[in-house]
Amino acid sequence: MQSENSSAQKIETLIRARYPLIYVVSFEEGRVSRNLKLMTDARKKELAAWTITAGLETPDGSFITELKDPIKVLDYILQSGANGLFVLRDYHHYLNDPVVVRKLRDAARELKMTRKNIIFLSPVLKVPTELEKEIAVIDYELPDKEELALIIGKISGSLDGRGQPAAAECGRQEKIVEAALGLTAEEAENVFAKSLVQKGMFDVSIVLSEKEQIIRKSGVLEYYHTNENMKEVGGLDELKKWLVKRGKAFTPKAREFGLPEPRGILLLGIPGCGKSLTAKAIAGLWQLPLLKLDVGKVFSSYVGSSEENVRRAIQTAESIAPSILWLDEMEKGFSGLSSSGMSDGGTTARVFGTFLTWLQEKTTPVFVVATSNNVSQLPPELLRKGRFDEIFYVDLPAKDEREEIFRIHLQKRGRGAEGFDLAAAAAKTGGFSGSEIEEVIVSALYDAFDQDSELLPRHIEAGIQAIIPLSQTMEEQIRGIREWAKLRARRASSIRWEEESGAVRQLEM
Ligand SMILES: Nc1ncnc2c1ncn2[C@@H]1O[C@H](COP(=O)(O)OP(=O)(O)OP(=O)(O)O)[C@@H](O)[C@H]1O
Ligand SMILES: [Mg+2]
Repeated sequence: MQSENSSAQKIETLIRARYPLIYVVSFEEGRVSRNLKLMTDARKKELAAWTITAGLETPDGSFITELKDPIKVLDYILQSGANGLFVLRDYHHYLNDPVVVRKLRDAARELKMTRKNIIFLSPVLKVPTELEKEIAVIDYELPDKEELALIIGKISGSLDGRGQPAAAECGRQEKIVEAALGLTAEEAENVFAKSLVQKGMFDVSIVLSEKEQIIRKSGVLEYYHTNENMKEVGGLDELKKWLVKRGKAFTPKAREFGLPEPRGILLLGIPGCGKSLTAKAIAGLWQLPLLKLDVGKVFSSYVGSSEENVRRAIQTAESIAPSILWLDEMEKGFSGLSSSGMSDGGTTARVFGTFLTWLQEKTTPVFVVATSNNVSQLPPELLRKGRFDEIFYVDLPAKDEREEIFRIHLQKRGRGAEGFDLAAAAAKTGGFSGSEIEEVIVSALYDAFDQDSELLPRHIEAGIQAIIPLSQTMEEQIRGIREWAKLRARRASSIRWEEESGAVRQLEM
């Protein structure tokens, strides 16, 4: 039932290779324990589980309560003659104790000679440096399609017993299972049950919206149903072309052809010019689920958990793969890197390391879209070849692009372009960003509404006059970003901007 590379399989391999100390990171105590039990039964090993509150539960189901003490239980395991697997739940709280550390370092050597293994099972990973080399870490994966299908079967089976409608038909079941990917077994069970109660059947939209809630609760991840598509992004023709081409590379046919799995892109550039918008539109273009990781939040919570946050985000993205993981305003997370050794005990550097390694080595089709408007705060390691497929520089929109952006935002608000001279409006808005053009339209609509009038060219004119574009106050920074990008990034647009004697001027190339 377990796939080749499942976590259960990896644990079994470690046990066969006599790794004495294994750390399993998971929220799913029940599911992990059930799977461990399957393995120990098959391998004729005994399974014992410890908690601080109950002590050690032996294979016969009785508890040795004298062993609640976290050190005593280690002594017990060391003396035990069993061929056994000892699962210590939430033991991470005690791993900082110097006595525990010393004991485990000795134990690691001793246990190698025996057929005993210790498994630390905990939702958080906390391994003191002294033990890093002794402990093997497994991030226990979330349930895959097969496991979720079993859960559906179990739930609908129990319904059948009460004479209610049977399980969803095969085609629909596949969709339900897909919708539930990214949830723990327990969460999936609850979501399915809720759907049955509310609708009398398994409903994809209920499962999806529950999933959205659950993922949001994690605090740093947001699951997006995007409505955005590329038609809402003005300009950026090069970037769009690239994305259309790469979208095809997700297919099995592309693999056969010898194409590598797309890895990700980094979008750098001026604020308000469509980086975040494009990130969302990619999900629409490729029809893939989008997870947004709030990089700022990852680091703002209490220090210890930022590693956990990143690991969990990666895990969730992988469990719903093929998927897109969007790191918006990435510089907010990784900016403190140079000073982090002093300021946060190296956490930022460690988290960054975890992320980089994953970015480089990932084998699951998770496409990373990172956006940033401050290149100076990004660590150079991130920009090295091989991390991202491409680094794109998103500049202020050129004249033709501005015209398109005007049209897009009129259309978005139910207005056609007829009666407006958008080319003229574009000519007057040199230096405006996409979001400033949007602002022009919105303020024009306010004016028109206030005057009980339909939207007229003069409202747009007034809107243009009222806005001082950021590019005027940020001239220096923009020049800096452009200089930087010239050598290191590919242009997102084939139409080029150039500055001349202080005034921002467009050059058609
Ligand atoms: N190229 C564009 N085409 C259409 N609309 C745009 C474009 N650029 C910006 N906008 C409008 O401005 C809004 C803000 O843009 P967006 O959030 O994508 O900017 P950003 O590049 O991510 O900026 P920041 O660096 O500040 O995060 C968009 O939601 C969209 O409505
Ligand atoms: Mg943005």
